[in-house]
Amino acid sequence: MNIAFLGAGLMGRPMAERLKAAGHAIAVFNRTRDKVADLAKAGITVAERPEEAVRAAFCVILMLADAKAIRTVLLSSTVRQELKGRTVIQMGTVGPRESQAIQRDVQAAGGDYLEAPVLGSIAEVQAGKLLVMVGGTPEQFTNWADLFRCFGPEPRLIGQVGQAAALKLALNQLIAAEIAAFSLSLGLVQREGIPVDTFMAILKQSALFAPAFEKKLPRLLTRDYANPNFSTKHLLKDVELFLKEAGALGLCTSSLEGAHTLLTKTIERGLADIDYSALYEAVNPGP
Ligand SMILES: NC(=O)c1ccc[n+]([C@@H]2O[C@H](COP(=O)([O-])OP(=O)(O)OC[C@H]3O[C@@H](n4cnc5c(N)ncnc54)[C@H](OP(=O)(O)O)[C@@H]3O)[C@@H](O)[C@H]2O)c1
Repeated sequence: MNIAFLGAGLMGRPMAERLKAAGHAIAVFNRTRDKVADLAKAGITVAERPEEAVRAAFCVILMLADAKAIRTVLLSSTVRQELKGRTVIQMGTVGPRESQAIQRDVQAAGGDYLEAPVLGSIAEVQAGKLLVMVGGTPEQFTNWADLFRCFGPEPRLIGQVGQAAALKLALNQLIAAEIAAFSLSLGLVQREGIPVDTFMAILKQSALFAPAFEKKLPRLLTRDYANPNFSTKHLLKDVELFLKEAGALGLCTSSLEGAHTLLTKTIERGLADIDYSALYEAVNPGP
């Protein structure tokens, strides 16, 4: 299948490579072209402009940062003209209302639209183990299930457009909550002079343990947040999307507002583009 892949950042790049390895013909567009120039060696077409990639494609996959980037790259007047008869699959993390608004614009341009946000990061892309959550009709899900299986073995139809986006936010709220809570406990353990091994051994034996704690612990202990899988700025974006959505639905979001403050402080320290576990620097500043 000819696929246009728009947005080849941390996630988009390995996803495009995976589709190529599965035998699809891929044309990638990335705002910063230098970052993807080497993909040509792997037989992936690197387009100068998004409309070039879209024109040659049967389907368009989006793995862009946010709704603003989608509006810039996909919904310019030039690219809109190319959407007729094509299917747009939105796989980044955007809000449910944003996804529905993009759907309306794609449909108005004569295209078809579904959302398929994912849980999992670069390692899960490379292993084909992403959790793919689809928002669309049962018919769309059936038509595109094989494509989604390139990314993860068990794609799931969650509901209509907007519902998979909302579920993705519900899951990412947990990423923020877990790193904020774990950072605070670890900070206290360290400042009280309690061995971290003892803390972890007891935590692991308890019902409180979450695998993310163990995964992020080496970064927190060494304060090394380089080579991110998922950046602080995108976690802040997702927390803000969650706060907006949950607030509108009448939920009390006080617990997440604490994580929001911490992420904002982390970014003020110049740590926007590194691993989100850098939030530890806001909780327990180093010497
Ligand atoms: N990383 C993860 O573990 C993960 C997991 C699941 C979902 N997600 C979600 O997937 C999406 C992509 O994540 P990522 O980690 O791959 O992010 P990333 O590395 O920051 O890549 C973002 C992509 O969007 C492009 N972009 C950003 N702003 C733009 C604008 N104004 N106009 C045009 N292009 C723009 C970037 O182009 P440039 O290269 O030119 O900056 C890049 O292609 C996000 O919504 C994120 O929340 C991420």
